[in-house]
Amino acid sequence: MTTLTNVSARSFDSSAMPTVTMIGGGQLARMTHQAAIALGQRLRVLAERADDPAAQVTPDVVFGSHDDLTALRKAAVGSHAVTFDHEGVPTDLLEALIAEGVNVQPPPHALIFAQDKLAMRKKLAELGVPIPAFVPVESAADAIAFGAEHGFPFVLKAVRGGYDGRGVWMPADADETTRIVEDQLAHGVSLLAEAKVDLKRELSAMVARSPFGQAATWPVVETIQRNGQCAVVIAPAPELSDDRANEAETLALRLASELGVTGAMAVELFETRSGELLVNELAMRPHNSGHWGMDGACTGQFEQHLRAVLDYPLGSTRPLAPVTVMANILGAPEAPQMSMDERLHHLAARIPDAKVHLYGKGERPDRKIGHINILGDDVAETREKAERAAHWMSHAIWTDGWDPHHG
Ligand SMILES: Nc1ncnc2c1ncn2[C@@H]1O[C@H](COP(=O)(O)OP(=O)(O)O)[C@@H](O)[C@H]1O
Ligand SMILES: [Mg+2]
Repeated sequence: MTTLTNVSARSFDSSAMPTVTMIGGGQLARMTHQAAIALGQRLRVLAERADDPAAQVTPDVVFGSHDDLTALRKAAVGSHAVTFDHEGVPTDLLEALIAEGVNVQPPPHALIFAQDKLAMRKKLAELGVPIPAFVPVESAADAIAFGAEHGFPFVLKAVRGGYDGRGVWMPADADETTRIVEDQLAHGVSLLAEAKVDLKRELSAMVARSPFGQAATWPVVETIQRNGQCAVVIAPAPELSDDRANEAETLALRLASELGVTGAMAVELFETRSGELLVNELAMRPHNSGHWGMDGACTGQFEQHLRAVLDYPLGSTRPLAPVTVMANILGAPEAPQMSMDERLHHLAARIPDAKVHLYGKGERPDRKIGHINILGDDVAETREKAERAAHWMSHAIWTDGWDPHHG
């Protein structure tokens, strides 16, 4: 006899829930793991070291390198989808996995446009998407000719492998150009040159798309960089007209569909002083400009990325407050004496609505070691609070002069 007791006593069968493999054990994998826990899924990570941010918290870790096919195979066994926390996996290895039946999302034919800035520029030009003027650089003479035509300083970029401003140079004259180009080419780095854009500000349009073809955008955000690295994100971007916001979201949806992107994608944009939107680069994974949504949107990017790569229906991206500000906790020039834990206590006491995300990383100058999200009504107030909290966490100094022991 089947009884109700039997039905209600069915245990949670975790083996019937999907396993997703993420290549790379950084903070993006760590936060994806957090989302996987909530969905009852298992995230397996391919990490380099036991102290990588995701390896610290995930029971299912494969150690190895993202450019070793044997390690990739081991990480992919039995997994429902293989995805990435960085752009570094050579596409020929991914093709090999696909030939063996592995479900790779996003597929390598899309991922290439996030790996290779020259391939991306060429593809976007072909699609008629507005981008800065650019040329491939094979010699110092190529770059100097570009500088002479478009003006110094212009921008030199490593075609592959750059991040957080590493791999971006803005040479002021022909001599500096020669030095950089010759040095990089000698190290085997391929380069491109592009015009330096007269920026009003930088924006990011994030979208997630499933293999089925469902796609959802989050509101367009403003990103503020320091030393070429993202420091603060304001969601939604203040004083962006509805037309401009629609234009950016439509562009992100169009690129996701035309390039065959699956999972989360960030379209980094330049807003020029003359009011144009130009595409800077594409990231096909969760992105720093989407961290605000962990606390500030109905569905954050880490959950959405999992839903998308597993071809689930996507979640609502509705913002939960008029404004959310994300401030990165960037390592101070010298790590403070006060322990991170004591800093966290003080922060908790002083700003109880700060949502803290720490990545378990050691403190080094300018290193992304965590972030703070604050939800609010007023952009300036919310931003000040988020930046004050993040600066406190990295420097143990309150930017408004508050003294924790004499306050
Ligand atoms: N063509 C450009 N004109 C003006 N600023 C640029 C240009 N290209 C890059 N930058 C600045 O450098 C930052 C990093 O460049 P990006 O190509 O996004 O490299 P990364 O891969 O390191 O993020 C950008 O966010 C922007 O602030
Ligand atoms: Mg960038």
